[in-house]
Amino acid sequence: MPNSNTSQAIQATAGHPGPIGVFDSGYGGLTVLRSLRQALPEADFIYLGDNGRAPYGTRSFELVYEFTLQAVRYLFARGCQLVILACNTASAKALRSIQQRDLPGIDPARRVLGVIRPTAEAVGTITKSGAVALVGTPGTVASQSYDMELAKLYPSVKLYSHACPMWVPLVENMEAEGPGADYFVKRDLEAVLSNNPAIDTLILGCTHYPLLLSKIRKYAPEGLTVLPQGDIVAASLLDYLRRHPEMDAMITRNGTTDYITTEAPDKFSALAAAFMGEAVTARHDSL
Ligand code: DGL
Repeated sequence: MPNSNTSQAIQATAGHPGPIGVFDSGYGGLTVLRSLRQALPEADFIYLGDNGRAPYGTRSFELVYEFTLQAVRYLFARGCQLVILACNTASAKALRSIQQRDLPGIDPARRVLGVIRPTAEAVGTITKSGAVALVGTPGTVASQSYDMELAKLYPSVKLYSHACPMWVPLVENMEAEGPGADYFVKRDLEAVLSNNPAIDTLILGCTHYPLLLSKIRKYAPEGLTVLPQGDIVAASLLDYLRRHPEMDAMITRNGTTDYITTEAPDKFSALAAAFMGEAVTARHDSL
């Protein structure tokens, strides 16, 4: 049941400019937020991390959809007219239903965008061999969303996917620099790359994975293009706003970022500050 205060707040903010909402199950979306802020330094942002319920990658389709819809409604109620699902799992399992089934009833003027389509668009322009590897959460890999997007856009590209269920927990538990990360990153990269020696591009199909980048680079063979999504999503958003001036006009521009987490805010603030390179004071809230 949608919360009636949330519904009232969504109605009250309809048609008024607001911040861009950026949502992830936890810390991963920070890797997208950083690029978005570089691309749109004057825009206001609200970052929402559902750390209290992360990881999403091993959860059912129904639960990821339910949690993601709650998050989108939460961000709408705080005035966002545009929400980026900076999470592959949520993009794979919830984006289409929210866009097609829920948005028309909530507020047809608002928009929710994901990260899979822009990443798939970029991959086809980067690979030379046409052999591409994808690492992602079990949910993203099982959804076959990348397979479907690439089949539509670049039918000749051959995709080799591999689920890495331990990578998000390593990040969420601050173990990204530890020896456990070495073990799992090495093992999973070897598994996916052994599919075809011609693989020349690796999609990091989970926004948490750039937080493991030093380990990924350590075990990735030379010559492999490792593709984090932040800059791709930021470029795609700039293009979207150029094509949709009516949405561009709905973004407030004071250069602020609010951080909200469903877990302990101190832990979130510490990791976010280290990653964003500035002081962060996150607030706790429930969805
Ligand atoms: N950052 C999310 C993604 O891109 C991680 C999902 C999770 O919580 O497992 O898929």
